[in-house]
Amino acid sequence: MKISVIGTGYVGLVTGTCLAEVGNDVLCLDLDQSKIDTLKSGGIPIHEPGLLEMVQRNVAAGRLHFTTCIKESAAFGNVQFIAVGTPPDEDGSADLQYVTAAARNIGCHMTEYKVIVDKSTVPVGTADKVRAAVAAELAKRGADIPFAVVSNPEFLKEGAAIEDFMRPDRIVIGTEDVRAIALMRDIYSQFNRNHDRIVVMDVRSAELTKYAANSMLATRISFMNELAILADKLGADIEQVRLGIGADPRIGFHFLYPGCGYGGSCFPKDVQALIRTGLENDVTLKVLQAVEAANEAQKRVLLDKITARFGSDLQGMHFAIWGLAFKPDTDDMRAASSRVLIEGLWALGATATAYDPVAMQESRRIYGADARLTYADSPMSALKAADALAIVTEWKEFRVQDFAAIKAALKTPVIFDGRNLYAPSQVREQGIEYYAIGRR
Ligand SMILES: NC(=O)c1ccc[n+]([C@@H]2O[C@H](COP(=O)([O-])OP(=O)(O)OC[C@H]3O[C@@H](n4cnc5c(N)ncnc54)[C@H](O)[C@@H]3O)[C@@H](O)[C@H]2O)c1
Repeated sequence: MKISVIGTGYVGLVTGTCLAEVGNDVLCLDLDQSKIDTLKSGGIPIHEPGLLEMVQRNVAAGRLHFTTCIKESAAFGNVQFIAVGTPPDEDGSADLQYVTAAARNIGCHMTEYKVIVDKSTVPVGTADKVRAAVAAELAKRGADIPFAVVSNPEFLKEGAAIEDFMRPDRIVIGTEDVRAIALMRDIYSQFNRNHDRIVVMDVRSAELTKYAANSMLATRISFMNELAILADKLGADIEQVRLGIGADPRIGFHFLYPGCGYGGSCFPKDVQALIRTGLENDVTLKVLQAVEAANEAQKRVLLDKITARFGSDLQGMHFAIWGLAFKPDTDDMRAASSRVLIEGLWALGATATAYDPVAMQESRRIYGADARLTYADSPMSALKAADALAIVTEWKEFRVQDFAAIKAALKTPVIFDGRNLYAPSQVREQGIEYYAIGRR
């Protein structure tokens, strides 16, 4: 099948590459010339395990192509996946300008039947807007060409994106158009071999499903974060509590880890957007408002623990930071807790040296050459001249440590662990003060 994918970010590039991997002929469009240049020269603009090799393999096989030419992309695929960004607008609602621009571009150039697929996370009602945008462009040209609009939200996780796309838990297809359903079933048949994972539903339910999924996951995190704060006060251990409640199959062990707040490009913006959708429809989503507020507070939890230990004047102090990405196995720093920590330390007069296996380049892009944030080439070298260590991302390489060496390197042997990586007793036995999240 010939498929166009519009937007070559985390979702678009993974979607396009995985669709090529199973034999489709895929053209990926992005308006960002530098991204397309990188892709054409054999690189990829993001860090995603296994993606580079898969891109190179499919380019070499002649199944995966890249372009900045809108006309070429609109003509190429009989299926057009829209996978552009939907960042939060000032009021928290999803900014749909990139989605509608992509839709207009298709309408402007299409010459035959197209199935237009919203893969971006978009509020309920967006399929109608996409349909209207395409129809308006066709009307301008006096063209009468049939097309269908499908909602097909993406549930992949950065860091495990290829596995998630190739072996999805479910494939949601939102449309009532019989021809489009058949085409979508055909596209996904290669990812659906073990048992049928396709859930066909009406378009509005499909759009809402994506927000409901992310909001539920964010709710579990904020719930555990609040309980961890209480556990700290009560002298209980949240890890024991996690084991105690996770054993109940109605609750389960997944996604019950407290930490220093969720970030990334999805949970924060999707929770905000769903709250906004609620307000626009006279429904106050009180649970989600609390989830969002709890997370905003939780992103400051390491800073709060640091000021509780060292006072609120950190002038002249220097901190080592392990982890910049919002989670392991990605270089994505959108809404990352590390940013709240870094900027909070600066505001209180401190400086920092950070180490992250893949996100330091992204951090340099965000913060430029600000002398208050320097970078180290290993976790241990980040500790040089540091008063204390703060851990923000649970990269595997941080898990096993030589605590005697950490103690020797830090001016004050204190670790603020935002991801509960260590057994508190093991760290404290080495003479290190250890502040984690809800741990005794
Ligand atoms: N990142 C994730 O883990 C994830 C997971 C599931 C769903 N989503 C959703 O998928 C969508 C895309 O997310 P992302 O993280 O891949 O975004 P991204 O910002 O990484 O990529 C979006 C890309 O679209 C390009 N673009 C914008 N307008 C364009 C246009 N008119 N034509 C062609 N290209 C255009 C941008 O240049 C950019 O490269 C969002 O709605 C997001 O919420 C993301």
